Amino acid sequence: MPTNNRIDNFFIMQSARSDRWRGALTAAQQWASGHGNRAAVEESMADLSIVEEFYAYPGVRLMGHLREKIAAGDAGVTADLVRRFSDAILTGAYSHQAESGEAGDGGDILQEVLPTVLSGRDARRPYFEVLLVSPQPASRWPTISAEMRRLRRVEDSFIYEPVIVGSFEDAICAAIVNPKILAVIVAEGVPFRSLHDAPALRRILDETLGKLPSDAPALKLAGILKGVRPDLDIYVTTDHEVEKLASDPAAACARRIFYAVEEMLELHLAILEGIQERFETPFFDNLKRYAQRPIGTFHALPIARGKSVFRSEWIRDMGEFYGINLFLAESSATTGGLDSLLEPTGNIKKAQDMAARAFGADHVFFVTNGTSTSNKMVVQALVAPGDIVIVDRNCHKSHHYGLVLGGGQPLYVEAFPLTQYSMYGAVPLQAIKKALLDLRDEGRLDRVRLLDLTNCTFDGHMYNTRRVMEECLAIKPDLIFLWDEAWSGFARWSPFLRPRTGMGAAAAIKGWLIDPASVAAFETQQKELGPKPSREKLMATRLIPDPRQVRLRVYQTNSTHKSMSAIRQGSMVLVNDVDFGSVESQFHEAIFTHASTSPNQQIIASLDVARRQMELEGYGLVMNAISIALKIRAIINSHPIISKYFKVLGANELIPDAFRQSGFVDYLVPGTTWADVVKSMREDEFYLDPTRMTLVCGNAGFDGTQFKGLLASRFNIQVNKTSRNSVLLQSNINNTRSDIAHLVRVLVEVCGEIEERLKSGGEGERKAFAARTKSLMHDVPDLPNFSRFHDAFRGNAGKHTIEGDMRTAFFMAYDAKSCEYIPLNSPEINKRLEKGPDLVSANFVIPYPPGFPIMVPGQVLTQETIDFMRKLDVKEIHGYESSKGLKLIRPDKLEGKFAISKAAG
Ligand SMILES: Cc1ncc(COP(=O)(O)O)c(C=O)c1O
Repeated sequence: MPTNNRIDNFFIMQSARSDRWRGALTAAQQWASGHGNRAAVEESMADLSIVEEFYAYPGVRLMGHLREKIAAGDAGVTADLVRRFSDAILTGAYSHQAESGEAGDGGDILQEVLPTVLSGRDARRPYFEVLLVSPQPASRWPTISAEMRRLRRVEDSFIYEPVIVGSFEDAICAAIVNPKILAVIVAEGVPFRSLHDAPALRRILDETLGKLPSDAPALKLAGILKGVRPDLDIYVTTDHEVEKLASDPAAACARRIFYAVEEMLELHLAILEGIQERFETPFFDNLKRYAQRPIGTFHALPIARGKSVFRSEWIRDMGEFYGINLFLAESSATTGGLDSLLEPTGNIKKAQDMAARAFGADHVFFVTNGTSTSNKMVVQALVAPGDIVIVDRNCHKSHHYGLVLGGGQPLYVEAFPLTQYSMYGAVPLQAIKKALLDLRDEGRLDRVRLLDLTNCTFDGHMYNTRRVMEECLAIKPDLIFLWDEAWSGFARWSPFLRPRTGMGAAAAIKGWLIDPASVAAFETQQKELGPKPSREKLMATRLIPDPRQVRLRVYQTNSTHKSMSAIRQGSMVLVNDVDFGSVESQFHEAIFTHASTSPNQQIIASLDVARRQMELEGYGLVMNAISIALKIRAIINSHPIISKYFKVLGANELIPDAFRQSGFVDYLVPGTTWADVVKSMREDEFYLDPTRMTLVCGNAGFDGTQFKGLLASRFNIQVNKTSRNSVLLQSNINNTRSDIAHLVRVLVEVCGEIEERLKSGGEGERKAFAARTKSLMHDVPDLPNFSRFHDAFRGNAGKHTIEGDMRTAFFMAYDAKSCEYIPLNSPEINKRLEKGPDLVSANFVIPYPPGFPIMVPGQVLTQETIDFMRKLDVKEIHGYESSKGLKLIRPDKLEGKFAISKAAG
């Protein structure tokens, strides 16, 4: 990534800011100690000053004061001021602590201009910043800021500082780079162009908006800001025809519209109210109140209130470890101020509704048993026995088991393989369209209910969710979509990820459906396609659905605990379904089937709190996770020693060229800007979530499991999953730059040990090392595709599609007499593969890694499946007992089944 001083270098700006202040500090201290000079300080300040315009602290006046001190040659005060600013920015302390103002005449001005938020009394009030986009000349800005500060009252629950900019482009840059901005006031009559250089931003804005007038309307800017950061509260002020502005449909993106001059206090109160609405956590707030009440229980859960713990001679340490509040906040009750997760009407309902607002859904359901349960709930709610579900064979086992339980018939579609790394990518749209067109040609589209995909995949592949849904809806306008976003719930809070989420795409499609131009676009394409377009033509065309026919039905599940501040197992189901009313009762049945009747109060509270956090600081946290990932990628791949043995795979290595239509290669390619990233996000079939880093360790002689173990046992580093020759690192909202430092130091140490071993071990050691790395990196087994279901389980299946009745096969295995075991390496297996009868799996066999079912119940095993199993060198294989062999359905039992299934078909 380039690091020059353009204002639109968004990916690195946040971390580069504190680095630049540290650089300025070094220059200032050297000048003060007589070893440096003023020119160096001036140069570092020039670097800083453009970016600083987008932050409230130090702000225009303190920066001006600093510049004066530099100009006056006052090296001592300069060094002191730079140190204060730099420390406060690094620690974030400016929002909580009083500056002492000791630094000579630097101190006086600090006292004068620092906001009251920095004085002791207000130290604990949450702090944020408000962006004012103003047509007023910059000379008036200090006065405007002072007027805004004068509106503060002791009663205010929060406190904010204004940041003022004077152009449309600056406003967008400020909203992107400064995550502390939570509200924006847009005034009419602001010029479009910034005086600064912003080529990447211009490219994207010009492409998106076409030619805008030089003073674009405020509502246009408001709409764009909301598109980039839906978490912003937007206020529009005008000094003419406020009524006309308010009645414009485009005003929907603004929280309030004000007649500029007369309503300053109202505006201030509205801003605070907007924050209060997000700050509120109905369930958690109530649980805290509940914990303070004296309550006697004649109910289950003796641990509640802690009496059985704190009075005990033997388990008191548990109480001491967790603290009293955990026990006071425990209860089996669903009344008396608490609520029932299974049938919420009170504060859980309210918390779920607030989560729906935050996540861009119509409804949200909290789940306390992980996304494993959320997926089963959605599958059961939407799919009846015999319905066909097009599903990624590589998806999490909860989908497969959900289908077994509900009787849905999986039509497995294959993700593209990444054989060298023993993992799969994601399912190409061509495979999905082919499945749908096959079903259409056999007149069986009516049996298809659901498309079920993982987004993003473990390894970071994000679908073009909008395109997938649009093209599928063009073939089947009422198809339902389930996006398993277990890993990427936090994606909602990044403009670089959100459009690729199920809910992000649903919002875009909803907007498209009501745009009158959409019907015209559909009809034009129909004319081009002609009355009976060939399959080839349909496969090759980016299909447009008929907006009048589409029923948009989108579900998303996310493991809130995997990417946000929820306690383990906290998960959510998000619903954006125009026909939800038609499935609501069965949705509740699915909740009753799977949810515990004793859901954990703390998990529910943490879901509520995770939502609050993301609404108030999610944007900055996710940006930080992305920035950390980009740093890790860059350091590992360019470090002279680490890069000899380790490598983080780029987009070009995880996504074949054909799926990167924009020409995007990777984040690390020199000259790549965030505009290229946005283009890739918009156009490519698959896009790599940069926070998911596949670290190849095979070249260092480690298989994934071994390396994961080494990092954990020797270095206290935990990583995500493994493959044969890689481990997956994930940057998250909790990571800091110290974590990067620790990781890099450890990798340097490991590489040093390898080098030492190779040096001292002689030729023998070097040969052994080469053989080990070759085996890990090149002797990799081919990944077997799903073969087919045995005919015994395809009674009502079509000729060209491969769905099957997995549930019948699964339950056959309950009868021991229906099953046989054959050792994996026995000649019997080879004989059966060659001459039959078919080897048919009786159960799921899921090796970890790679973690997807190599066999499912009723599947006919092929040579590829057996070869893969024989080469597999992992210890954990669910569903396979090596002492007994493969569990198969006996051929004679299949014969009987076949007859029944044929009769049924
Ligand atoms: C794609 C996917 N979906 C669902 C799950 C299950 O989520 P949870 O652990 O919240 O039950 C996982 C877990 O790893 C997953 O990877």
